[in-house]
Amino acid sequence: MIGLTKKEKYTNLDFLNLVSDAVNKFKFLNKNSFIKIIAHIDCDGLSSTSIIVKALEREDFKFSVRNVKQIDNNVLDELEKEEFDILFFLDLGGEYIKEIENRFKKPTFILDHHKFEHSETNITIINPIMLNLDYREISSSGVCYLFAKCLNEKNKDLAYIALMGAVGDMQEKNGFIGLNSLILEDAKEKLDVSIGPRFFGIQTRPINKVLEYSTDPFIPNVSGSEEGAIKFLDELNIDVRDNYGNFKKLIDLSQDDVKKLTSGIILNRLNQENPEDIFGNLYTLKEEALGTPMKDLKEFSTLLNAVGRFGKGSLGVSICLRNEDAKKEALGVLSSYKIELIDILKWFNENKDQFFSEGIAIINAKDSIKDSMIGTLASIVTKSNVYDPGTIVVALAHTEEDEIKISCRVAGNIDIDVRGMLKESIAGIGDYPCGGHKTACGALIPKSKEEEFIKAISNISYEKWQ
Ligand code: C5P
Repeated sequence: MIGLTKKEKYTNLDFLNLVSDAVNKFKFLNKNSFIKIIAHIDCDGLSSTSIIVKALEREDFKFSVRNVKQIDNNVLDELEKEEFDILFFLDLGGEYIKEIENRFKKPTFILDHHKFEHSETNITIINPIMLNLDYREISSSGVCYLFAKCLNEKNKDLAYIALMGAVGDMQEKNGFIGLNSLILEDAKEKLDVSIGPRFFGIQTRPINKVLEYSTDPFIPNVSGSEEGAIKFLDELNIDVRDNYGNFKKLIDLSQDDVKKLTSGIILNRLNQENPEDIFGNLYTLKEEALGTPMKDLKEFSTLLNAVGRFGKGSLGVSICLRNEDAKKEALGVLSSYKIELIDILKWFNENKDQFFSEGIAIINAKDSIKDSMIGTLASIVTKSNVYDPGTIVVALAHTEEDEIKISCRVAGNIDIDVRGMLKESIAGIGDYPCGGHKTACGALIPKSKEEEFIKAISNISYEKWQ
């Protein structure tokens, strides 16, 4: 491994050394080189892309970008037909190191945080997995940010984008840890950090919906209940409705009313383990307008995911770099995304009884849900209270290319290596793209392998992966 001696415990400094070695290699390359960037199309991938795009622009490099759902042989075949001098893979690529090295004899950089099997290679890899860092310490966009900052201090103004990727990959839990917390210090020029009720949607959603949709923190008789949320708010005796009788947004309540609201929620949660666990860090972008999804880092990351799920990679990059026209277009995409989500959840609720069997729920949506949305469904289901903690959720959807997209998650905060489980099941049926993180991973198999795969994953022993 470049720049690393084998240690039991690595430090942030070791990681920064790894980054600096990679940047030195990059600086050595010809400035007239044309760079091809292949990057993932989720929030972390789009944040990574934006950071590298801006950094390369600042160094006067010429480049082109392709955001993809995953690397597979089709992506590599198409790449082989293109002309470029340097390759960058962002938020993906680790599973294909040997393949990439064999096909492209060009300087290649992989900036990622997904698990991968490391072996000797000429490719320059920066990945926290190499240093056994915890999943929550840094995302791919954090890796890209440290690379960009080491290349040119000017890129310090991109730190907020790195945190957007980290939030999108669920690395923020009542604060950032590790390298992410160092990046937060750089981001403070653009970001305000405050403590407040840690609900999703406080900038944009009416307060009744914020509470109804809140599963963490859970509010008894309110979470998951439309009527319950309305009754709870109306009985609080605070000014929660506007002049037209509609519920206000949380940011439009007075300080006093927010206090009464949070006290009411805590009282309601007295039977829960930690009734007061409703506060957390709020991260808001100083230069964005109040009441928009771009104001709050969590809502911004959802917007990016929505744009990515709709296949609009360059729009995602433009909104990260805060282009005004792009923001307007992205709001339209967000509305379509929300409509699609409602349809998906309706389908799930109508069909959910048939999915569960002994510790595993196999949600076989076939053509009822788009492959680009199946991961979102799997994530929502595991974060709500539909299944007991520890239930493995395997969601499948057909793609337009006659394949099956598989998304795998685990319900609750339970330590099960679903990636290991998925990899073993896939290995038993053939050689297909499969990868991700310990608790969130995916795969792509031919349609003809559907039954074989379901049998394989249903018969796997969970104990081995706990
Ligand atoms: O697509 P989905 O949301 O289920 O993916 C979960 C995680 O697994 C993501 O981080 C994604 O990048 C990763 N993944 C992967 N290789 C695949 C499919 C998904 O690394 N073939």
